[in-house]
This record gives sequence, C-alpha cells and structure tokens, in this order.
Amino acid sequence: MDIVYLNGHFVPRDKAMISPDDRGFVFGDSVYEVMRWYGGFFFDMDGHMNRLRRSLHETRIVWNDIDTFADLAEELVNKNDLGNDCSLVYVQVTRGAAPRNHVFPDPAVSPTVFASARRQSVDTLLWERGIAIAVAPDPRWNRCDIKSTALLANIMSLQEAHDNGFMEVCFVRDGFITEGAHSNIFLVRNDTVYTHPESNFILSGITRKNVISLAAENGIGLAEERVAADIIPYIREAFITNTSGEVIPVIRIGDQILGDGTPGDITRKIHVLFRDKVMAGSPVH
Ligand code: PDD
Repeated sequence: MDIVYLNGHFVPRDKAMISPDDRGFVFGDSVYEVMRWYGGFFFDMDGHMNRLRRSLHETRIVWNDIDTFADLAEELVNKNDLGNDCSLVYVQVTRGAAPRNHVFPDPAVSPTVFASARRQSVDTLLWERGIAIAVAPDPRWNRCDIKSTALLANIMSLQEAHDNGFMEVCFVRDGFITEGAHSNIFLVRNDTVYTHPESNFILSGITRKNVISLAAENGIGLAEERVAADIIPYIREAFITNTSGEVIPVIRIGDQILGDGTPGDITRKIHVLFRDKVMAGSPVH
C-alpha cells in the first residue's frame, strides 16, 4: 500500500486529505525537497535539510519539527517496503490553510507538511547515451534559489522542450546560461568545467555541490563562473545534475552537437566519481 505522511500521521495515499484553502494549492505558497534513498541510506540528507531550512527561512514559513524529518523520511521508506530499493522521497511544506488572502494568515496557521516515497531507479541508459537539451530564455522569477513548488515557468519551458524532442532546457538570462528547468548545468571548455555561481538565479543543487567538491578533490579544473550562451558553439562537452538522474551527459545543445556526439571524457570521469561516492554511501561534503 502507498503510505504517505501528512501533518503528523502516516496514512494511505487515498486517505490523505488537504484543504482546498491550503495556500500551497491556492497560491503555490510552499517549498519542497526531493531526496534519494539508495536502498539503505539517503544521499546527503544534511544537504537537503539545510536547503529546506533555507527555503523555509526565505519564505517565512515556520515548521518547528524540521529536525525530525530525517528519521521520519526513513520511516516512510520502510512503511512503503522500499528499504532495499532506490527511491525518491518528496517533502512539501506549505504555509497552511486559510481563507484566500494574499497576505500571510494572521494569526499564523500550522503549516501543511506532506511527504511521500516512490520507487525510482536511476536511468542508466541516459548515462550511456547522453541527452539533448533545448535553449530558451529563462522566464522565471528572481528567487530561483528558493526551492518553491511554484514551478509553472519551469513546467511550460520543459514541456515545450519535450514537445521538440529535448529532455531538458538550458535557460539563458541576460545572455548567460543559468541552469535547467529541473537540473543544474555544467559546460566544459578548454578542459575546465564551468557552472553558474550560486546566486538568486539558480537553485543550489545538492548534486551540483557534491560534483564541485569531487572535482576539487580529484584535480579537475572547475570554475563557478557564468558562461555566455554565445559560446555554445565552442563547448566540447556538457552535463546536467539532479537528484533523480545524478550526472547526465549532454550530447547536443539546441542544434549544436557537442564534440563527437557522445558523452565527453571529463563528463564520464565526473560521472564515475559521483557513482563511486554514492556507492560508498556517504556524501562528499
Ligand atoms: N529538481 N535546479 C532546479 C531548477 C531543480 O529543480 C533541481 C532539482 C536542481 C538540482 O538540484 P538537486 O541536485 O538538489 O536535485 C537544479 C528536483 C529533482 C525536482 O524538482 O524534482
């Protein structure tokens, strides 16, 4: 049975009831996290919890019990018989339910806390083949550093990319590559890996942070610097990172085939380093 967590209780998914006045539903007034369970441990749970704390702080959503979540997530995995499987845990915290009004409820209401787990292994075929990503203007707001559930801009862009045969979209803001609709982007030029620095224009990915640490530990040149979209023709290789896919090679950006159209050497190296780290069962930082 699919068991979810809602406001202090584990219940079957079809018994989980959320108010139509919930501000997550009405306004997208909520934040979330997605973390991966590798059949025995969560990858960098501390990183995910710290980012969730930050998202809550920036949105002024108060969830006093956040410190209990790591244990709760493991309980959720076990209640769903996923203990030995690769799965994804999703947690969402909304500002709670109150009559519709743009300003925060006063007095404040309890947040709505929902979590679920589902079996999902990593798609190894993508690792071997690589993916094509589209290029599009970044239509999002100026607080992409907050992991907000208000993802309509991401969804519209990603769907358009999918409709045109791409698996991700490479966002461009003011002429510079920011990130993907649901991943961070790394580009390799002259043997150096570039990725957009942490700022309000990207989400600070947990996979991204671990990749940056791995590169430093293994003597791979990596710069947290913006890359202008007009140098795409000079890029030899690229990859995207996220919790669900880990390190996924990019073999085409828009019309531009990268290198010989297969995953690049530095990408492969970083991919293997990340895999090894995951298999060792511990995060890098
Ligand atoms: N998305 N950038 C954006 C916009 C994202 O949505 C994500 C992840 C990332 C990568 O972050 P991380 O490495 O911590 O997963 C970057 C998740 C997987 C999602 O929405 O499902």
